Amino acid sequence: MLENDIQEILFSEEQLKTRVAEIARQIETDYAGQEIMLISVLRGSFIFMADLCRAIHLPCTLDFMSVSSYGTGTTSSGQVQITKDLSEDITGRNLIVVEDILDSGNTLSYLLNILDHRHPASVRLCALLDKPERRVKPVELHYRGFPIPDAFVVGYGLDYAEKYRNLPYIGILKPEIYGG
Ligand code: PRP
Repeated sequence: MLENDIQEILFSEEQLKTRVAEIARQIETDYAGQEIMLISVLRGSFIFMADLCRAIHLPCTLDFMSVSSYGTGTTSSGQVQITKDLSEDITGRNLIVVEDILDSGNTLSYLLNILDHRHPASVRLCALLDKPERRVKPVELHYRGFPIPDAFVVGYGLDYAEKYRNLPYIGILKPEIYGG
């Protein structure tokens, strides 16, 4: 069973649901009377995106993009490539980029820079998890679910070797699974 590989549950389904609802209320307050566009950065954010967008009661459009970042081991590098671009024009739109985790900041600083050049009305970042001690590039995070320590977390969209994304909670992977 997948659960046997988990050392500790960091955030339960209930905790995630509560926090997602709180973020949604904050976004509704900040963008009251406006229309927003949520951009999910695949693949890790797909579950967070699905829950967050259903908790937001504002006129809202959705789009998806995919990037790959090259690095050694578990650390991304500054080299990022768009592997799937947005389908929609973002000119003049209020964007909220939805991410599962902000780590070194390499991926997001690159991505936010690219989006800025396409002249949206505004861009904000929403990340469910944040590992501040790992930051290499400064990134402004407007909506943060939870700060977490530098542990190997999986579930609720986050993977190890493409597995565990389907766990309904966020857990810390047993070190023996990834050879840590
Ligand atoms: C994760 C996450 C961010 C990035 C953050 O994606 O979704 O895109 O890493 O790391 P950084 O701050 O160090 O750049 P990942 O590369 O694991 O791909 P995935 O979403 O497809 O799992």
